[in-house]
Amino acid sequence: MNNLSNNLPARLPWTGSDPCAWKGVSCDLANSSVVGISLSAFSLNSSDFLPLVCKIETLEYLDVSQNHLSSIPDGFITECGKIKGLKRLNFSDNLLEGFLPTFLGFDALESLDMSFNAIWGTIGLQIDGLVSLKILNLTFNEFTGSLPTKLGKSMVLEHLLLSNNSFDGKIPDELLSYENLTWIDLKNNRLSQSIPTNIGKLSKLETLILSTNDLNGEIPTSLVNATKLSRFAANENNFTGSIPSGITKYLTSLDLSYNTLSGPIPEDFLSPPQLQVVDLTNNMLNGSLPTKVSPNLFRLRFGSNQLSGNIPSKAFEEVHNLTYLELDNNILMGSIPAELSFSKSLTLLNLAQNRLSGELPQELGNLTNIHVLQLQLNNFSGAIPTQIGQLRKLIILNLSRNSLSGSIPSEITNLSFLNFLFLQGNYLSGSIPTSIRLLDHLLALELGENHLTGEIPSMPLSLQVTLNLSNNLFSGPIPNSFGSLSSLEILDLSNNGFSGRIPDNLTNMPALTRLILSNNPLSGEIPKFNHGVNVEYSGTNLKNNTPQENPIANRGFKNGISVAVAILVGSVAATLLGGFITLLVVSHLYI
Ligand SMILES: *[C@@H]1O[C@H](CO)[C@@H](O)[C@H](O)[C@H]1NC(C)=O
Ligand SMILES: *[C@@H]1O[C@H](CO)[C@@H](O)[C@H](O)[C@H]1NC(C)=O
Ligand SMILES: *[C@@H]1O[C@H](CO)[C@@H](O)[C@H](O)[C@H]1NC(C)=O
Ligand SMILES: *[C@@H]1O[C@H](CO)[C@@H](O)[C@H](O)[C@H]1NC(C)=O
Repeated sequence: MNNLSNNLPARLPWTGSDPCAWKGVSCDLANSSVVGISLSAFSLNSSDFLPLVCKIETLEYLDVSQNHLSSIPDGFITECGKIKGLKRLNFSDNLLEGFLPTFLGFDALESLDMSFNAIWGTIGLQIDGLVSLKILNLTFNEFTGSLPTKLGKSMVLEHLLLSNNSFDGKIPDELLSYENLTWIDLKNNRLSQSIPTNIGKLSKLETLILSTNDLNGEIPTSLVNATKLSRFAANENNFTGSIPSGITKYLTSLDLSYNTLSGPIPEDFLSPPQLQVVDLTNNMLNGSLPTKVSPNLFRLRFGSNQLSGNIPSKAFEEVHNLTYLELDNNILMGSIPAELSFSKSLTLLNLAQNRLSGELPQELGNLTNIHVLQLQLNNFSGAIPTQIGQLRKLIILNLSRNSLSGSIPSEITNLSFLNFLFLQGNYLSGSIPTSIRLLDHLLALELGENHLTGEIPSMPLSLQVTLNLSNNLFSGPIPNSFGSLSSLEILDLSNNGFSGRIPDNLTNMPALTRLILSNNPLSGEIPKFNHGVNVEYSGTNLKNNTPQENPIANRGFKNGISVAVAILVGSVAATLLGGFITLLVVSHLYI
């Protein structure tokens, strides 16, 4: 060992006569023989010392993950291959490149982790000699060619992790001979053709991840018999046909989103009690929603299909853990069942873009954990229930493009975390609640295409993405107070009855890029705005006497218009993903 310490990289604090006291060295307590070396994140750049480590005949594991090693010396393979008891090798997260070395010896090696490197080429026989291999992790490398089938002659492999490489071709039938496999991850490769039909014969399989490939054909019905299978993901492929009946019988998590699956959802699909997460987003599924739902369901995503019929009122009565529910972009009809409010854990409810109608149930006010409520693009009518003011955690409220009437309840201004309030395209009347400025996290307020009237109150100073009051019945002068909205980028006042002159202090809004005043009986001269402010004023009596000072005016959008719009797009994407609510909150609180 002392010979070793003399030859080690200077970074290693290995001095003193007792190696068992050295950092990263583990010894057998009984006889002080060195059994493990863990040099994870020691900033090592040179692998020259590795063959020396192999002189430790008692070594059981070596972890050099999270360093800057760019090669494995030949001497390491020949020397360490002789160690009788070496069980685990971890080269994860280094800078290894070139071909995968051929492992000779290593008779006891059970776990080989070479993930997060840049190793390339095909895999033939390089690892077939590892007769004890149970765990193989080669994720995040640059491997090409067919999936390897020679994975240790004695066929005891349990974990096969090959995701995020460029493997192509078919999933080989030979893999099914590794009967001990419990975990297969082939995500994000270029695999094509169909899955071996008898894949379900891998009776110990617990996790099967095939996401983001070019696989096609049907989901094999044999998987229904994989009694240990808990997590199955085959999203982002080209699977067709219908969902096999019984597929969820033993699963806790199923993701078949972004395929071309068709036909109805089997009636017993959601009922198995262990089921927690189901994602069928973006397929061509039709028929009605299942009525029996696992009481342990946590996330359900059925968006962007052709599902029809009602939202069954009994279905969600007992589903107390349900946190994400997305049924958007289908052809669902009828009203929102009040029983949905029993799912008190709901954080995200997206029923947008269906044919739902009727009044919004007051019981929605019981969903006090909700962060995102998207009911836009339906045919809801009646007033916005005042109980909506109880949803204190709301960040996004989208009720746009419905047939809602009555006035905007002032209770809405209790929602102090709200970032996005979309009420455009309804029949809302009356005036904007004077307390609106209490929404001091609001980034975007869309109230266009309603019948709003009256005085415009002071707006929240946090407004950034847009303030849109277009297509309403506002009249009188443009309020001076807009001038203090120092983060606001887009102000749309078009198609109202605003009259008089443009207040001078609007020219002091530092973030403004678009001011849309079209179709208002405004008059007078347009004051001088900064370069980069696009003032749209068709259909007014405004005169622009400084056209050359304002070259961008009336030429439409600038490129890469604003940070705020990017945030909006980003947060909408996050919402669609459904899992990033906390991130959303945090990022918006710190804008
Ligand atoms: C040390 O003790 C362990 C059992 O505690 C044994 O397996 C191992 O072979 C011993 N090593 C040496 C070098 O004696
Ligand atoms: C290898 O090391 C990485 C990083 O330290 C760790 O996350 C991973 O779990 C290790 N692999 C195995 C198989 O223990
Ligand atoms: C709100 O609904 C409108 C459709 O009326 C849609 O364009 C917009 O993306 C939605 N925004 C969010 C954050 O839900
Ligand atoms: C303002 O809202 C109206 C009605 O919803 C919409 O048509 C218009 O595009 C919006 N203005 C901007 C600048 O987005």
